Amino acid sequence: MKSDFLKYQAQTTPHPLATEISHAKGSYIYDIHNKPHLDFVAGVSACPLGHNHPKVVDAIKKQLDSYMHVMVYGEYIQKPAVELTKLLAKHLPKSLEKTYLTNSGTEAIEGALKLAKRATGRSEIIAANKAYHGNTMGAMSVMGFEERKQAFRPLLPDIKFINFNSFDDIKQITNKTACVILETIQGGAGFIEPIPGYLERVQQQCKKVGALLILDEIQPGIGRTGKLFGFQNYNCVPDILVTGKGLGGGMPIGAFTASSELMDLLQDQPKLGHITTFGGHPVIAASALATLKEITESQIIPNTLEKELLFRKLLVHPLIKEIRGKGLMLAIILTSSEITNALILKCQDRGLILFWLLFESKAVRITPPLTITNDEISKGCKIILEVLDELHA
Ligand SMILES: Cc1ncc(COP(=O)(O)O)c(C=O)c1O
Repeated sequence: MKSDFLKYQAQTTPHPLATEISHAKGSYIYDIHNKPHLDFVAGVSACPLGHNHPKVVDAIKKQLDSYMHVMVYGEYIQKPAVELTKLLAKHLPKSLEKTYLTNSGTEAIEGALKLAKRATGRSEIIAANKAYHGNTMGAMSVMGFEERKQAFRPLLPDIKFINFNSFDDIKQITNKTACVILETIQGGAGFIEPIPGYLERVQQQCKKVGALLILDEIQPGIGRTGKLFGFQNYNCVPDILVTGKGLGGGMPIGAFTASSELMDLLQDQPKLGHITTFGGHPVIAASALATLKEITESQIIPNTLEKELLFRKLLVHPLIKEIRGKGLMLAIILTSSEITNALILKCQDRGLILFWLLFESKAVRITPPLTITNDEISKGCKIILEVLDELHA
């Protein structure tokens, strides 16, 4: 299977991890030799309830028995999508009432950027250095990492970059700006939190000049930071909220949410301002609805902060310089990128899944299922510390 994988399936790196999967359950993924791999990555923050959560699987199966794709987005009334968007509204401030469901995070970013241009009649977009918002042309245009996008230029015109957390740079947001797009917590950059007052100041400036604030919560959203949405930690409500990943409970999804007043602009001038065939797919929406219900009706969210404390207590080692992030969106910063690589690969051999971050080569991602138990955290951290001891010797 490995040679077919390399020969026929397009790859994103010359050296994929290439573990061949048999099945997955809870916090474990099993390979074809039935070896369990404890999952500290959760499909890159996309499986908040772990693998094959019974309530999610049940919702998917029930929906499969009723109907799958029946019509393009938004024409027919399909209960799972309606209930999902309604439940999102219930958990969001009043100004974030209407949600457009997409097939992926990057597509939701495209929709959000288009909505901001349509609403303001302006073209300038301000994004942050080291930001990651996805890989389609528009989303890549607002990625703050030139090395990874140079080959694909020309991209969108009229994009300016500011430094995340620089109060000084906020003055670059002017009455030419359609929108500012930021990750609530910068992911690829190394899990950088906004410093106190930063997002509020950006929002004030946006309001002053008539620009919209888009917060990308594709990674921090859906309970990972101890609140359902990351922005709820920082006293700042965006004009457009973008979610994805964990919302789908292991199925592909993206979503952007705004006021009805803003969102309704996509129906007119031009009509069909944003369209998709499969967005809001009933099976995906059923999975997302079951996931969101479980997360909001249980103790999962408050427990993430206790689990963060356990990680921080256990992961103390001379090779660990710092642990960044919030809740179960944590990054271990090691002393060198060589140590980072060795740690990830050696842990893989010992049955613990870790992974890199996009732009910070010394970081190891720790974004386990939110349902991970304290015993599983202790077990995985023990493996990390043993490997670090070996690397330190
Ligand atoms: C912050 C952020 N925005 C956007 C995306 C793109 O989402 P997707 O891969 O579903 O297109 C990601 C994915 O890693 C992300 O972490």
